[in-house]
Amino acid sequence: MTQTLADMRRDYIRDGLSEAQAPAEPFSLFKQWFADAVKTEQPPVEPNTMTLATVDTDGRPHCRVLLLKGLDERGFTFFSNYDSAKGEQLAARPYAAMTFFWPSLERQVRIEGRVERVTAAESDAYFQVRPLGSRLGAWASPQSQVIKDRAELERLLAQVKERFLEQAPHCPPHWGGYRLLAERVEFWQGRASRLHDRLDYRLHDGVWSRERLAP
Ligand SMILES: Cc1cc2nc3c(=O)[nH]c(=O)nc-3n(C[C@H](O)[C@H](O)[C@H](O)COP(=O)(O)O)c2cc1C
Repeated sequence: MTQTLADMRRDYIRDGLSEAQAPAEPFSLFKQWFADAVKTEQPPVEPNTMTLATVDTDGRPHCRVLLLKGLDERGFTFFSNYDSAKGEQLAARPYAAMTFFWPSLERQVRIEGRVERVTAAESDAYFQVRPLGSRLGAWASPQSQVIKDRAELERLLAQVKERFLEQAPHCPPHWGGYRLLAERVEFWQGRASRLHDRLDYRLHDGVWSRERLAP
């Protein structure tokens, strides 16, 4: 029997999230949840996968999947093409929201805040640890631009390979990191009968507050 969309549902029963478990700031809890996800998520799920939402100058939202590549007290870092659609949106409207979903843990984390570029030195340091193919790809692909066909991309890659025949590719000027400076972090733990736990951290004047939201 084919399951209809209306019939698709699963109860979430694995865990709870209480105020007693939650620290005064969100970063240590995020790190703990991330470490849990690294342990429990099975390939092909990558625990650092998230959805990043940005807005354009007409106020229209756009979202896409990206990989988180760094986290420290300054914020959440990801890498992309500065000339891409998201790059243009962030240049005009430097705010974003990212969502992580860890299905094995029945957990979601939502993070919102201002976005800034990381330094060129930080972008270069990360670029250099990427596999050669990814480094060449960053040079070859005019991300988010219309291309005629697959052959055009292959041609662009061939040109880049030719250019970097004798020297290792350095970080392109159009490619690098962004850091989301969190102003709001919400932790969501699935619970039975859709009565989930939600703890919402907000930053005001450098001080984090925490409240429980209704599911
Ligand atoms: C699992 C996964 C990981 C991805 N990681 C990245 C990434 O780290 N950086 C990136 O620029 N695009 C990444 N992409 C591609 C983006 O989803 C998107 O197609 C691309 O960044 C262009 O988006 P834009 O046109 O909105 O700028 C990833 C896609 C998937 C499915």
